[in-house]
Amino acid sequence: METPEDERLDVTKEPVGLSFTHSPVMVEEVLSYISSAPLGLVVDVTVGLGGHSSAILESIEGSQILGMDRDLRALEIAEGRLARFAGRYRLALSRFSGLSAEIAKLEGEGFSAAEAGVSAVFADLGVSSMQFDDPTRGFSIRADGPLDMRMGPSGSSLTASEIVNGASFDELVELFYSQDEPHAKRISEAIVRNRPIDTTAQLAGLVEKAVPFHFRKGHIHPATRIFQALRIVVNDEEKELDSLLSQALDLVMPGGVIVVLSYHSGEDRVVKDRFLEASTGGCRCPKVLGCVCGAISRGVVLTRGAKLPKKSEAETNIRSRSARLRAFQITGGE
Ligand SMILES: C[S@@+](CC[C@H](N)C(=O)[O-])C[C@H]1O[C@@H](n2cnc3c(N)ncnc32)[C@H](O)[C@@H]1O
Repeated sequence: METPEDERLDVTKEPVGLSFTHSPVMVEEVLSYISSAPLGLVVDVTVGLGGHSSAILESIEGSQILGMDRDLRALEIAEGRLARFAGRYRLALSRFSGLSAEIAKLEGEGFSAAEAGVSAVFADLGVSSMQFDDPTRGFSIRADGPLDMRMGPSGSSLTASEIVNGASFDELVELFYSQDEPHAKRISEAIVRNRPIDTTAQLAGLVEKAVPFHFRKGHIHPATRIFQALRIVVNDEEKELDSLLSQALDLVMPGGVIVVLSYHSGEDRVVKDRFLEASTGGCRCPKVLGCVCGAISRGVVLTRGAKLPKKSEAETNIRSRSARLRAFQITGGE
């Protein structure tokens, strides 16, 4: 069964508003992997509000960062948070799929770490607290807003509204099943019957009424998987993650690391499988024979099973509760 980004999306527990209170998730663990890599360029592809990036710049002497995000507002906030490290970071408005291109641009700019090569790629997947907490962005189940859900509003045109109001019944069912929503048919029927649906509160209320009574009062809102499914499609998240991992495996220098924090089992599985495949080179030869297919390993998986946040962090940082960290090291380092 898919695990939704339950704690992150359970906005019932969070104040609604633009507070931007944000503690980076599993920061100690992230730092320990990144600091084990040789010195070079650290790429934080989800710079968001700058939480992890500022911790890296603060804690790892001589570190330099390229911080990327597809959300211009996030970059403005990150800029404010990172300003005290002037000269040691660059920010870029880009999707994951633009990773190699952004690094190539930096090389031409004479940013010294970029000349040294990429020592780490870090991703903290999903939506930031700023994006969740701003009702106008349309990610929030509780606070009313337009059905938007674009992480980078200026860079893409598809909105959640277009899917909710334009997709066929069958397309909706397939989409919601893809997030393991057990009531996909009932919910899709209710959506099709009640269109047009203009706001997040309308959609959340309609889903709540569509599911059987005893599913309405749990600790996770019954529309959680529906919102998650819509957001994944609106932001093309599966393709973006795939592109990120492929590029990172090619870009990171020997001894360097790729570190990913995921928040639902769908994306965690993708990361797990890609790391495993990179470690075996895709070899399927029976262990007893040893490898006879000539597959070449790209490195080693550093996390046997996903790392979870410490109990103390899970108790104090709601957003960490569904986090799973996986790390991979490219072969050839000291
Ligand atoms: C969970 S937040 C990161 C928070 C950040 N680690 C911090 O400590 O402040 C995820 C960020 O990644 C960005 N993001 C998600 N998918 C992206 C993609 N495909 N390309 C670029 N940015 C993306 C979102 O816009 C969001 O700002």
